[in-house]
Amino acid sequence: MKIGIAADHGGFELKQLVVKMIKTAGYDVVDYGAHEYDRYDDYPDLIIPLAQGISEGEVEKGIAICGSGVGASIVANKIKGVRAALITETYSAHQGVEHDALNVICLGGRVIGQELAREIVFSFLEAEYSGEERHNRRLGKVTDLEENW
Ligand code: RB5
Repeated sequence: MKIGIAADHGGFELKQLVVKMIKTAGYDVVDYGAHEYDRYDDYPDLIIPLAQGISEGEVEKGIAICGSGVGASIVANKIKGVRAALITETYSAHQGVEHDALNVICLGGRVIGQELAREIVFSFLEAEYSGEERHNRRLGKVTDLEENW
């Protein structure tokens, strides 16, 4: 599975760790940057290319990291086809995929530690959408809004 990842300066350190973790686990990773630490960079400049990668099908799932995960989730959700959420524990990391077809997790690089991040990331990556009728119905309502509002 091809996974996209991006972070601003607030998430840079965690991104480097997560890239290593998921590459070691055998995932194919597209790193949308930042490629070096720049304390003056702006999260939309890094997260938008990742979200576009999801929208265009270049990558299947995404991991967006900023200082809190808030800015990353706000901007990622502006891009069509992206279903992003700020995740801080493992239940939502897999349930979000199983019920809501979550395709981008947002993490706070200044908020969570490396081991919790590892558990969240793998819960997210290993989860699959259930395809149950009630979830398809709900997802359809979300997609309708995106298409027609
Ligand atoms: C950057 O200092 C910080 O504001 C940003 O990474 C993020 O936390 C925004 O939500």
